[in-house]
Amino acid sequence: MRGRFITLEGLDGAGKSTHLIHLVDRLRKQGKTVVQTREPGGTPLGEKLRTLLLSEPMHLETEALLMFAARREHLAQVIVPALERGDWVVCDRFTDASFAYQGGGRGLALSKLATLERWVQGDLDPDLTLLFDVETDIALGRVQQMNRELDRFEQEKKEFFDRVRSAYLDRARQNPARVRVIDGRRTIAEIQKELEEITITLCE
Ligand code: ADP
Ligand code: TYD
Repeated sequence: MRGRFITLEGLDGAGKSTHLIHLVDRLRKQGKTVVQTREPGGTPLGEKLRTLLLSEPMHLETEALLMFAARREHLAQVIVPALERGDWVVCDRFTDASFAYQGGGRGLALSKLATLERWVQGDLDPDLTLLFDVETDIALGRVQQMNRELDRFEQEKKEFFDRVRSAYLDRARQNPARVRVIDGRRTIAEIQKELEEITITLCE
């Protein structure tokens, strides 16, 4: 049986990394073999593209094309083989991030992103996407508190992230059966409780 494909999305600072670890742990305790991965990245070539994407200034279409190039490699080398083995895949960001950051944030035409989406993914979509939603100020405040060097995206202005958030919420409205919006303003413990309920339902 094909495994399940779960993606986590949200603004930088929304809580994806925090909850990904917990989610993977819960799924493993339920007996699933889980491949934990991330985008951009997840393969040796993808990680090289990630380094470029997070540091080098580039045209917005180059940025979108490199995101999807890394994704093509990731699907071919990691995601599809894992799902075919029956493993579960939990991925920190996927195509919704391209619609949110390159589409919403940078203003790239959504029709171009939709073409890349179908070209690169064929008919493979995540089974479930958890969208951690918080106000931009909260997310940016959390990133700043971490006191680490900011990458090329994290250095963007609040207005950029407002557009990213709104594009994420549009994607959720357009894909209600796949995308579950998680209220990321609550405490970590409260969110974990909701995720536990989700994993129990998923594993039934
Ligand atoms: P992301 O992976 O979405 O960028 P992280 O999981 O790295 O976000 O979280 C960013 C920071 O915010 C971390 O210091 C984390 O401990 C903190 N954080 C995450 N979720 C919450 C929450 N619900 N309430 C308060 N702080 C949180
Ligand atoms: P992320 O791994 O969440 O960053 P961090 O490790 O700092 O938490 O993602 C890196 C950045 O890449 C993030 O700011 C969003 C951006 N991104 C896009 O712009 N488009 C995409 O398609 C993806 C997957 C990520």
